[in-house]
Amino acid sequence: MSSKLFSPYTIKNITLKNRIVMSPMCMYSSLHKDGKVTDWHITHYATRAVGGVGLIMLEATAVAPEGRISYEDLGIWSEEHIEGLSELVRQIHANDAKAAIQLGHAGRKAVLDEPALSPSAIPFPEMKMPVEATKEDINNVIASFREGARRAKEAGFDVIEIHGAHGYLISEFLSPLVNHREDEYGGTAEKRYRLLEETIEAVKTVWTGPLFVRVSANEYGDNGNSLKQFIDYSCKMKEQGVDLIDCSSGGVVPANIEIFPGYQVNLADQIRKQAGIATGAVGLITSAVQAEEILGNERADLIFLGRELLRNPYWAYSAAKELRTEIERPRQYFRS
Ligand code: FNR
Repeated sequence: MSSKLFSPYTIKNITLKNRIVMSPMCMYSSLHKDGKVTDWHITHYATRAVGGVGLIMLEATAVAPEGRISYEDLGIWSEEHIEGLSELVRQIHANDAKAAIQLGHAGRKAVLDEPALSPSAIPFPEMKMPVEATKEDINNVIASFREGARRAKEAGFDVIEIHGAHGYLISEFLSPLVNHREDEYGGTAEKRYRLLEETIEAVKTVWTGPLFVRVSANEYGDNGNSLKQFIDYSCKMKEQGVDLIDCSSGGVVPANIEIFPGYQVNLADQIRKQAGIATGAVGLITSAVQAEEILGNERADLIFLGRELLRNPYWAYSAAKELRTEIERPRQYFRS
């Protein structure tokens, strides 16, 4: 039986061997506040490549030191980061997977000693007061994403994802719940999009490969952006040449979210249909049948797995068995 989950997927110059993506997950495992790749990262990511995942996406990797969530975050703000990241890419490739990196800036959710940047001086509840970004700060952020993308290219990544979700800097600019600016970066939906728009353009000056953007397509706050708004934003991203919208939700303001299997799939489905762009579905997807249903009914193009891959790095092999699909495995495992 052929399954959609194990069918290849081509985006621009890259073909993924299947539709399974390791969702970006912070490991907070860089040492000495230096943002560098450690043995932990190599073992952790290479294991999921051995486990048959088609695309391994690295955790939110900070494009600027003040854009880290914590001092233990991975970073890509300096040339010194390229060596470790290249080695990580090499190990992922050696185990027959493609490598992606999520570029991020924590904005007002940074937990560092230095001041945190935000579109407006409004703290995330119970966190410290951030500073309102000046025009110069915004220009620096955009340049940092561009330089991060250039370094990611040098390190050999196949895919770049811009982190525009979960209430970090880009998501803060998008959201009327956090962005109360009255200059060209706030005040209307179009102006709130400007930071992401300019970031995408800046990344495109150094990167022609597959480009994903993760968004929180449900902000769960009264007066937050609606799904309809994210469909409009996705149309704009499509026009700008973004290849796929990775559809997550939440994190912008505290909220009691009702979660259940596939609780965010509807976002991927609606954006895919109404904006006509490829999407990734994520969130409590744990079984092969569930993944196959999402893909088979054309509700998303890729399946992002987070916690399930932390529990079971070899998920792909049991999923293939469940879907009665023959897949290649490392030759060393042929007896299993
Ligand atoms: C996450 N998540 C996350 N998301 C993101 O965009 N960038 C990140 O760096 C992280 N970091 C992170 C760390 C850990 C330990 C977890 C569990 C989650 C969210 C993650 O990518 C995913 O969207 C959610 O976990 C929902 O998917 P699952 O876990 O239900 O498959």
